[in-house]
Amino acid sequence: MQSRDGEDSAKVLQAQIHVWNHMFSFINSMSLKCVVDLGIPDVIHNYGQPMPLSNLIASLPIHPSKTPFIHRLMRIMTHSGFFSQHNVTENELEVEYVLTDACKLLVKNHPLCLTPFLHANLHPIMTKPWHQFSSWFKTDDLSPFETTHGMLIWDYFGLHTEINHLFNDAMQSDTSMSSLVIEKCKGVFTGLESLVDVGGGTGTMAKAIAKSFPHMHCVVLDLPHVVTGLQGSENLKYVGGDMFEAIPSADAILLKWILHDWSDEKCMNILKKCKEAIMREGKEGKVLVIDMVIDDEKRDDESVETQFLFDMLMMVLHTGKERSKKEWVKLFSSVGFSEYKITPVLGLRSLIEIYP
Ligand SMILES: C[S@@+](CC[C@H](N)C(=O)[O-])C[C@H]1O[C@@H](n2cnc3c(N)ncnc32)[C@H](O)[C@@H]1O
Repeated sequence: MQSRDGEDSAKVLQAQIHVWNHMFSFINSMSLKCVVDLGIPDVIHNYGQPMPLSNLIASLPIHPSKTPFIHRLMRIMTHSGFFSQHNVTENELEVEYVLTDACKLLVKNHPLCLTPFLHANLHPIMTKPWHQFSSWFKTDDLSPFETTHGMLIWDYFGLHTEINHLFNDAMQSDTSMSSLVIEKCKGVFTGLESLVDVGGGTGTMAKAIAKSFPHMHCVVLDLPHVVTGLQGSENLKYVGGDMFEAIPSADAILLKWILHDWSDEKCMNILKKCKEAIMREGKEGKVLVIDMVIDDEKRDDESVETQFLFDMLMMVLHTGKERSKKEWVKLFSSVGFSEYKITPVLGLRSLIEIYP
């Protein structure tokens, strides 16, 4: 059948599905948040075997009037790859659910648990700026976050304790994943006498490094509202400060998930301070960057899209971006670094070593 303007109706209907699907993609995020808020991954995990829907419903903290709705929530989340179904029968209450690998990362006691990351990033303070995205394009504000909340994100966190803690917990949960870097790239850290983790948050990464290398002196430098009150150890110290002002000298400076928060100009300022810090006292150390390198190799569709999603996140919440290899190299050369080595160790992220 042809429509009046000559378009094939099947093509138009397929296009309509594409638009609808995109329009309602936020439902995936919000359904995932609901599943986590209800504790469904933990309940199924603790059950220890495929869990019938009837048992799941009985274990959830919900009002009896809501029992008929759970299977619909489970249906979309099964379709999205968070649960798999066993014992599929006509009686939906007898269908059994197990967690997929992705859902296991949302179980509270999993060492790589992503739940704090989800809570911080889907908090209304973080999702509200998306409603101002197009308005931001018409202003000279630095980010839609600024357009929405009247200030940049780090200043906002300094004034609002709840979201500051949620964000720091989110970063802490991610940093546990980065301990994998130490395992996979031990050689990068071997022989270093000192290291400063710039913007190191509550210090999970630095703690792991300090533990693996007891002779290395480690410092976590972060904003005062992040590190105030945190206790160091024999070879780990917390310093409250501003990386744009001063960075303590060390054999190596670590920048994990820092540079993607900032514009090229701000990154140049940070990298200049890092260069000074590794070249003081006549030494020549190195800077270790952990961040994404987009377009660096052939990736599957989901990985490419996830990197682009992070890039938009950096635009809307921060003032930064995810960079391609060419953009990284340009940035490093502009500050006078002469050599670099990229090791894609951490899924979508890489470890980049840079040398003066
Ligand atoms: C995306 S988080 C990364 C935290 C940590 N490196 C990690 O990967 O888990 C960025 C960190 O930079 C810190 N930060 C922002 N501005 C800073 C500044 N001017 N000086 C020092 N740290 C800063 C934030 O407080 C936050 O902890």
